[in-house]
Amino acid sequence: MAVIYNDEKQIFHLQTKGTSYVMQVVRNKYLLHLYWGKRVQNYCGTRSIILKNRGFAPNPQENDRDFSLDTLPMEYPHGGNGDFRSCAFGIREQNGSRICDLSYVGYEIMKGKPKLEGLPCSFGSEEEVSTLKIHMKDKISGLSVFLLYSVFENADVITRSVVFENRGNSPLTLTKMLSMSVDFRESGFKVMTLYGAHNNERNVDLRPLKSGMVQIESLRGTSSPQQAPFMALLEANASEESGNIYSANFVYSGNFTALAQADAFENVRFQMGMNPWNGEWYLEPNEKFFTPETVMVFSSQGLNGMSQIYHNFYQHNLIRSKFAFQPRPILINNWEATFFDFNEDKLLALADKAAQTGIELFVLDDGWFGHRDNDDSSLGDWVTDKRKLPLGLSHLSDEIHNRGLKFGLWFEPEMISRNSELFRNHPEYALHTEGRPYTFGRGQLVLDLSNGEVCRYVIESVSKVLRETKIDYVKWDMNRHLTDVGSINFPMERQGEIFHRYVLGLYKILEELTTEFPDILFESCSSGGGRFDPGMLYYMPQTWCSDNTDAVCRMKIQYATSFTYPVVTMGAHVSEVPNQQTGRVTPLQTRGQVAMSANFGYEIDLTKLSSEELDEIKKQVAFYKDIRNTIQFGKFYRIKSPFDENVAQWNFVSGDGSQVVAFHFEILSQPAAPIKILKLKGLEADAVYRDISTGYEYGGDELMYSGISIPIEKKDFRSVCFRFVKVN
Ligand code: GLA
Repeated sequence: MAVIYNDEKQIFHLQTKGTSYVMQVVRNKYLLHLYWGKRVQNYCGTRSIILKNRGFAPNPQENDRDFSLDTLPMEYPHGGNGDFRSCAFGIREQNGSRICDLSYVGYEIMKGKPKLEGLPCSFGSEEEVSTLKIHMKDKISGLSVFLLYSVFENADVITRSVVFENRGNSPLTLTKMLSMSVDFRESGFKVMTLYGAHNNERNVDLRPLKSGMVQIESLRGTSSPQQAPFMALLEANASEESGNIYSANFVYSGNFTALAQADAFENVRFQMGMNPWNGEWYLEPNEKFFTPETVMVFSSQGLNGMSQIYHNFYQHNLIRSKFAFQPRPILINNWEATFFDFNEDKLLALADKAAQTGIELFVLDDGWFGHRDNDDSSLGDWVTDKRKLPLGLSHLSDEIHNRGLKFGLWFEPEMISRNSELFRNHPEYALHTEGRPYTFGRGQLVLDLSNGEVCRYVIESVSKVLRETKIDYVKWDMNRHLTDVGSINFPMERQGEIFHRYVLGLYKILEELTTEFPDILFESCSSGGGRFDPGMLYYMPQTWCSDNTDAVCRMKIQYATSFTYPVVTMGAHVSEVPNQQTGRVTPLQTRGQVAMSANFGYEIDLTKLSSEELDEIKKQVAFYKDIRNTIQFGKFYRIKSPFDENVAQWNFVSGDGSQVVAFHFEILSQPAAPIKILKLKGLEADAVYRDISTGYEYGGDELMYSGISIPIEKKDFRSVCFRFVKVN
């Protein structure tokens, strides 16, 4: 039973195979949070809450000084009447009042999972998931708040979101509407977040939470490379392998906030949701507002355990593309090979070489449309540039297909260049406030996707190309963040909605395009991994992980991205050396083995490589095809972190357990070098495995507990790969 309700005690107990999440209604009004953590078989809740009179803690009842919302663990707190910690939601009534006092009304338990209007969210069959809906109401304003909890019993995941409904007679404004708030009656956590920048996405930050708040956010209009929409609380002894971890990942591609707040009594509040900055929503009577969903994962087996849960869940219950379980093609992208300077001959010469090496998909990147010779023009004009491709895009696509390759195309549909036909005809399509100057990013402006007409234009102009040309893959780029956010199409009281309306417009576009073109493999991109979030993954099953293709940097970027996202979702390419982002020269083997640890491809001018290099690439491509199923659909285990050491190690185990691929990377060569040991993970202890290249056999327990020694080599940036097959 995924949702258990104890009528006598008014206790809700959500139970997955490894987790319990418990709430209780007290005084027939307040919803308290009792527990989130390792599964409890029977939660009686007998001495969960001890009431205590604390100084400066306000009381709802005059003579009841022990009872204070400021000291109780609240399930969905509002700040106006005595809980001074971070609130989960806020309202403003027509008279300016910001107070709200929720009372419990009732609950409903449903099989399956309701959709969230206009938003991407996880899904599951009636057997896989049950949903608890708790109804709370503020009598004075008439606001109803529905807390939704979907319990994926076997996947070990609970998702949360909130629906607000104005059942009063007057409009009101939602000033904050987080999706998740959890109060722990304990502390001592370390807070883990993933921060970064363009070319340097997802570094690990681990901070002790002593007092006050650790908060991350994006105010950029997208989930951003600066902070991933992810936070985890690690118990003091938690590590990669063991210990309790409480984490959340936000299924949303816009502004967000995530925080952990410690109070004076060693309680911790953990919250996630849409960022309230410029994030209000005006709610007319009878209107509803749906918050995006938070995926909550508890692991008692450290970070590896947490990642396994996310990977499995996203593959099965979030990525809805038919490609979720299809082997992804090895691609060549012309961007770093040609940038904007190409013509059909040049592209076909690259395609010829790609075909010879066994590469499967040719992607034409930026520069094929309008008159775009650099990045200062033509965004919005999705019409082939006949100067570069006089025979047209379809001709090029046919030629690529004739060579046995699939054909993919780059778009940046959310943007508009000032120097474009679109802007000349429709300057009002750009996000902008009348009378104020424009703010540029990469020399371009952002389309106002809060405007339905603009969304229609994007859908029509992109679909036209996709209908007229045989296209197997689309790279959907987004290369700047949102500024000048406002829209004359909305009244004053709705100007705070535009950030969210932009994201809703984007989701509407993606919904229509991915529905009309289900056979196209979509890859999302935002100057690399700048919008790598579960919201985008719902529509697009893979994301270009970073514009930084340097093998050493990529070890870290891919390592940290794997905390929540399956490796099959991470685009990873081999590029030239010296690397264009870092200037570093790394061996082709290492570049290959780092990239083939994810969704593999090349971004390099194959026509300039020596025959030895091309031979090596041919071997890499053939090798990846051999291991592709294990990499893309097997289990991924991190072993050693490049954030901690001079090495990175990880291994993959195929779904049926028969194939194992392990990688060892050593960054700098060291004097008096220690002999490194690779201890594999996820094998069957009593099975025997054969090393495919040497024929040596090892016990599964031997490989995991004793490990294999890596011979020393005096070489920087080296990589070693092992492939094992289970023999019994
Ligand atoms: C972004 C992408 C790159 C490339 C360029 C083209 O930076 O991340 O991969 O497509 O745009 O302008």
